[in-house]
Amino acid sequence: MNEPPADQLSRDVLRVLPGIIEILSRSGRREGLLASVVDLILDATGADACFLHRWDPEQRHLRMIAASQPYDELVGRIELAEGEGVAGWVAKHRLPVVITRDKWSDPRYKYIPELGGDRYTSMVSLPVASARGRLMGVLNLHTVDEREFTRDDLEFLTATAALVGAHLETEDLIEATLAKEAELEALVQSTLSAQETERRRVATEIHDGVTQLVVAALYRLRAAQTLVGGDHPAAGELATAVGLLEDAEEESRRAIRRLRPPVLDDLGLAAALRELAQEASEAVDVEVRAPHQLQLADTVELVLYRVAQEALRNVAKHARADRVTISVDVDDDEVHMAVVDDGCGFDVAEAFAVREGASYGMAGMRERVEMVGGAFRVASEPGKGARIDVRIPH
Ligand SMILES: Nc1ncnc2c1ncn2[C@@H]1O[C@H](COP(=O)(O)OP(=O)(O)O)[C@@H](O)[C@H]1O
Ligand SMILES: [Mg+2]
Repeated sequence: MNEPPADQLSRDVLRVLPGIIEILSRSGRREGLLASVVDLILDATGADACFLHRWDPEQRHLRMIAASQPYDELVGRIELAEGEGVAGWVAKHRLPVVITRDKWSDPRYKYIPELGGDRYTSMVSLPVASARGRLMGVLNLHTVDEREFTRDDLEFLTATAALVGAHLETEDLIEATLAKEAELEALVQSTLSAQETERRRVATEIHDGVTQLVVAALYRLRAAQTLVGGDHPAAGELATAVGLLEDAEEESRRAIRRLRPPVLDDLGLAAALRELAQEASEAVDVEVRAPHQLQLADTVELVLYRVAQEALRNVAKHARADRVTISVDVDDDEVHMAVVDDGCGFDVAEAFAVREGASYGMAGMRERVEMVGGAFRVASEPGKGARIDVRIPH
């Protein structure tokens, strides 16, 4: 019999417990974290081998995730089906098992040569559950000498198993959250690229359809102009029609330019913004302040580009401004873009209000920004110009 006196055990437990609590309160699946817990459990109890198995509720089996030396090499390689061996029995019945002697005659015991079962005499196997009572794993403890596990032993082990269970559950939750986040990011990416694809399709359709027809009609009308000559009574009408069709051609080319995704990949955001500024320069003076080398994710660049595009379109269409400034700056945790004009301003609440048949410009900008986790703010008062601020974390 090898059983430390009760006061010795509680002294060991008191010495070791703060370490266990400290380690298990760290989050994340970190190398060696559970191995240290297993060592501390041995330290506190004076047992000789300790194994922690993780329960996989889908596969319904246990997989060893931590072991005291020299079994640490086997981590990840030992698996037990539900009901297999003592640990499998504990997983199935969610009850602790204590075997003091003669485990070979216990029908639940399964000899696993790698785990050196013949070296050990007594054992405890405990279910490891989460705070919500979900089975997270099984904790096994073995001693070389025969040992009656005391109530204090079991109390300590039960408390430790509860801490381990809470830790494993936190690990699961963190992992699930990260997976969700990655999924969401992929969704945003594919939604944005679907929008771009759709824009490109519409641009191609305008180009190959309406634009070609307009160009053909212009060609015919010019031919007709030549045929009838300048003195014919229809000459004035023909000239007007030619003018209208020229406007239509120009208009559809402009629409195509707006729809086509910019060459962000080739030029980068700063250059693409300058190109936008150039296009808008007929209507208003545009100044772009952006560093040449911006290290931003493609989706973020695209969102900023589209917001600047719509903001400039709005300035040209509504603001009667003299000047507009687009500035981009990046710091450690976010990129900030501001579009500021000195035009007539407007009532922001009204611009966002859902109106029948209203344009989607404002809401669309905000939606794109929020899709990538950013914040979109508009500030304006009638007569006082307008300012759009976009902040996107990166
Ligand atoms: N820079 C601006 N200056 C003045 N008014 C603006 C500006 N931007 C937006 N607005 C106002 O907000 C309204 C909503 O804009 P938006 O949603 O883009 O729709 P749309 O441009 O098609 O009218 C505009 O109709 C206009 O009245
Ligand atoms: Mg608009």
